[in-house]
Amino acid sequence: MSTTYRIAPSILSADFARLGQEVQSVIAAGADWIHFDVMDNHYVPNLTFGPMICQAIKPHAVTPAGQPVPLDVHMMVQPVDALAQAFAQAGADLISFHPDASAHAHRSVQAIKAAGCQAGLVFNPAAPLDVLDWLIEEIDLILIMSVNPGFGGQSFIDSALRKVEAARRRIQACGKDIRLEVDGGIKADNIRRVADAGADTFVAGSAIFGQRDYRAVIDAMRKALA
Ligand code: DX5
Ligand code: ZN
Repeated sequence: MSTTYRIAPSILSADFARLGQEVQSVIAAGADWIHFDVMDNHYVPNLTFGPMICQAIKPHAVTPAGQPVPLDVHMMVQPVDALAQAFAQAGADLISFHPDASAHAHRSVQAIKAAGCQAGLVFNPAAPLDVLDWLIEEIDLILIMSVNPGFGGQSFIDSALRKVEAARRRIQACGKDIRLEVDGGIKADNIRRVADAGADTFVAGSAIFGQRDYRAVIDAMRKALA
């Protein structure tokens, strides 16, 4: 199987005072998607940014050649449906939510798709994948958390690898084209292990924005994946 790997820098670790420029720089350095971590200090213990910031960065999410770069919105917020609607209007391309944050996960997936976005489900480190029994055919993305959501710069939780393997088996059994993304603690020196477990899309915040040369980090990640 040939896999197209995608690297999705999380702007949670970018310089918020220069967000548009940071988005442009990381795209020029080779980012495939822009990962946008939305936190409400309620579902998770941190507060970040909302639809207005998403809308503000949208015009910056293009390659130097003018190709749009997908905005990958990771919602760690409640209520899911109303905010998903707002992010869809603010230019999100993919919207993912934690099923335990929604009273009606199937309805939330439908709401995201009806708003014209791709829909993803996110699984915390201790969350089972059971909801996929009923929802895998409806979604475009599975996002496995390899840290507890809320903060950048945490260490990778190894049990996530087993969950990535289990998610990959479910995708294969379903036969649908579904992205398998992993979020938290990913660096050039562990990305290969995550890919070997079955992931094809990699969120990385501090590993990229914590270095001066974004391209050097992204190139090192691609080299590890090659
Ligand atoms: C954590 C966020 C992650 C975070 C990853 O709640 O969902 O996207 O930014 O950051 P790093 O790559 O620093 O672990
Ligand atoms: Zn995230």
